[in-house]
Amino acid sequence: MAEAIKRLVVRGAPAIGIAAAYGLAILIQKANTMGKLKEEFEHSYQVLKSTRPTAVNLFWALERIKNKFIQLCEQSKSLEEIKAILFEEAVLIENEDFAMCRQIGAYAYTLMENLKQITAMTICNAGGLATSGYGTALAGFYMAKEKGKEIEVFSLETRPLLQGSRLTCHELLKNGIKTTLLTDNMAGYLMQVKKIDLIIVGADRIAKNGDTANKIGTYQLAILAHAHQIPFYVAAPTSTLDTALSEGSQIPIEFRDKQEVLTFQGVQSAPLAVNVFSPAFDVTPAKYITGIITNKGIYHPPYSFKIED
Ligand code: MRU
Repeated sequence: MAEAIKRLVVRGAPAIGIAAAYGLAILIQKANTMGKLKEEFEHSYQVLKSTRPTAVNLFWALERIKNKFIQLCEQSKSLEEIKAILFEEAVLIENEDFAMCRQIGAYAYTLMENLKQITAMTICNAGGLATSGYGTALAGFYMAKEKGKEIEVFSLETRPLLQGSRLTCHELLKNGIKTTLLTDNMAGYLMQVKKIDLIIVGADRIAKNGDTANKIGTYQLAILAHAHQIPFYVAAPTSTLDTALSEGSQIPIEFRDKQEVLTFQGVQSAPLAVNVFSPAFDVTPAKYITGIITNKGIYHPPYSFKIED
């Protein structure tokens, strides 16, 4: 599971959290003594924790399973009981995520319900393929479609790994949503020539003050939206809030292997000797975010998230 998360076989903040929770829960199923289980649990917890640094959902889900495990050990539960309860907890994490996505979709839809035709934009993939289903940024678009709205979504390709073209376009088309693909550097021109009603993006970690880490390119999209007076929203479940961090500069940013920029699926696209700058995420300052849509509602600036949120 750790390999799958590192290689982005499973990616997207909520999906990473869910996968890591299952990773621990499944590992436990193989144990036949308590001593061995505790040892293996701690080792696997550390390995999973070190896979990707930015999305807080990973740490949130691992912590939740670990706390449950400690609690069950303290209650002297049997090995079989621990196995069953921890698996149930992973299922619960997955099911809760699905419910939170539906709630996000309902709140996001309120931003669009008065529009006759909706023209929206998004970056990366914050859809069903990044969650337990339905998505965060895409949830409002799915809800609009369900309500019979005419909607077109412009999807940024999302270099270097193309989550926008490979995943978002795929899932939007599959769900019958008119979708137009553009490369990341075409966003400004699109905004000049076409009326975009709103932009909704996902999030990997949201600091207490609303600063938001999301896929690299989100920051420049927010600046462009600001310059063109286009409402710019972030959609995320409450498991993506990190109230321990007062601002975005404290969010750890993952840097990825340079091969991901020098080549695509094995085909070289730059001189191999060149230096590469490859952050996987950037942080959009809260001042460029019109609203943050969570499963609990839509928050507006000034943001000040609390642990209860
Ligand atoms: O590197 P990735 O593909 O895991 O990055 C994913 C994103 O940045 C998503 O927008 C974010 O995780 C939200 S997914 C609901």
